[in-house]
Amino acid sequence: MKIAIGCDHGGVDLKRLIVPLLGELGHEINDQGCNSNESVDYPDFARLVCTLVEKGGCDRGILICGTGIGMSMAANRSSAIRAALCHELFTAKMSREHNDANVLCLGGRVIGPGLAIEIVRTWLATEFAGGRHLKRINMF
Ligand code: RB5
Repeated sequence: MKIAIGCDHGGVDLKRLIVPLLGELGHEINDQGCNSNESVDYPDFARLVCTLVEKGGCDRGILICGTGIGMSMAANRSSAIRAALCHELFTAKMSREHNDANVLCLGGRVIGPGLAIEIVRTWLATEFAGGRHLKRINMF
């Protein structure tokens, strides 16, 4: 898959772990930054990644800030984006199976690297179930 990824200064350390994982899993990565711990504004990076998912040919997006909350709020302003903030495996799986989430948001200050890696693996590997869930996501 083509995956766009972006973060702010609160998520840059976790992004540095996730990018190589995406490569190992065979995905094409479009990294929109940021790339340092210097303070930046998360909505800028949410917009860059969501634009790539909406009309830039990327299949999915991953956004990381300190809590994941700001990124998920900003991402869900775009009508074509279904962003899910996930900090454990069940919601990571269900956000794909029931909600066809196309953007995963993570909080770099909330979860450790081991859990974050498992969440990303699960989220990328889980298919949308369709059926009644398709009707529901088409209602918003
Ligand atoms: C930045 O300090 C922090 O507010 C941001 O990373 C994020 O947690 C916002 O939701």
